[in-house]
Amino acid sequence: MENYRFLRACFGETTDTVPIWIMRQAGRYMPEYQEVRQKHSFMEMCKTPDLAVKVTLLPVDILGVDAAILFSDILIPVEAMGIPVEFVEGKGPVLGAKIRDESDVERLAEFDPAEKTGFVMEAVRILRKELEGKVPLIGFSGAPFTLASYIVEGGSSKNFIKLKTLMYQAPDIYRKLMSKLTRVVTDYLNAQIEAGAQAVQLFDTWAGILTPSDYREYVLPYTRKVIANLKRDEVPVIHYANDSATLLPLFRELGADVYGIDWRINLDDAVEALGGDVVVQGNMDPTALFYPVEKIEKIAGDIIARGRKARAHIFNLGHGILPTTDPEHARALVEAVHRLGKK
Ligand code: CP3
Repeated sequence: MENYRFLRACFGETTDTVPIWIMRQAGRYMPEYQEVRQKHSFMEMCKTPDLAVKVTLLPVDILGVDAAILFSDILIPVEAMGIPVEFVEGKGPVLGAKIRDESDVERLAEFDPAEKTGFVMEAVRILRKELEGKVPLIGFSGAPFTLASYIVEGGSSKNFIKLKTLMYQAPDIYRKLMSKLTRVVTDYLNAQIEAGAQAVQLFDTWAGILTPSDYREYVLPYTRKVIANLKRDEVPVIHYANDSATLLPLFRELGADVYGIDWRINLDDAVEALGGDVVVQGNMDPTALFYPVEKIEKIAGDIIARGRKARAHIFNLGHGILPTTDPEHARALVEAVHRLGKK
């Protein structure tokens, strides 16, 4: 029988127990992932539908999570814009664009997602068939601001000096880039929805580096526009931002269906900060999975109790699962959430 727990919770409906999936659930902590990864580069895996499908399904079968998330990366559409993207071992992503003037932004391509990222849509279509009778499929994209951060910084960053300098000293160039990314992200997500994604998550991983007033001025209007322009009658939108407790009072204006919460705030306090009567996703500290199983269960129980303050709660970690996590602990967490979350 198809498991609709996750989608029902996204719409704020009651479920038999608390649904759970885990950010980065198909990843390096899993020996079955490593086995595929030893033979193929990460980008190769993203671009080969059969491989992307295979690893997407791993956590559904091994952990028993209530949703699958497409195996891909937020930098796939960035590469499709014409920016060289490379994953360097031990360093993370390295991007080859320089944004110094308006012409640098004009040169970035707005592409047809069905054509340039056809492998993503193909993986979505195959996954829908493979997952039939099992669990729903989540598609995703980076939010405009987080994509801008990788493009402008040229990769991961600590202080985001280049990005903030652009924002403060060349706001016209910054806004031109954000407007372009808003259109790209909207088209990319709509193509995933058309291919069959049943929910979509927007990752605004780095929004938390901003003051609330800068977030309101420089980020919120763009993310809100993406969400408003998705063709999504029955497709819920999840918004996730890391380290964002102080931004929660602003997020409600985004118009998402579900708000992803990091672990630095108690879940009941997050519900209140969002304004109450809201669907939340989260929010266990990823390093809590390094505790013994009994303690993991205790922490999960506390989060579930706090989540009862929300209209509905989807259990997840507060950020991606870490590569050194014991998969048995992840499996124990899924089992514990289903047991302790019973209504
Ligand atoms: O959640 C899932 O399982 C779906 C797949 C997924 C990946 N990346 C797989 C991945 C998703 C949703 C992402 C999103 C993503 N990618 C984000 C936003 C979410 C977040 O974690 O904050 C960001 C910032 C990226 C960019 C990115 N991709 C980074 C910083 C890295 C790590 C680089 C490194 O070497 O540590 C990646 C690589 C990546 N993305 C891996 C996976 C499984 C590891 C690749 C490998 O096998 O080496």
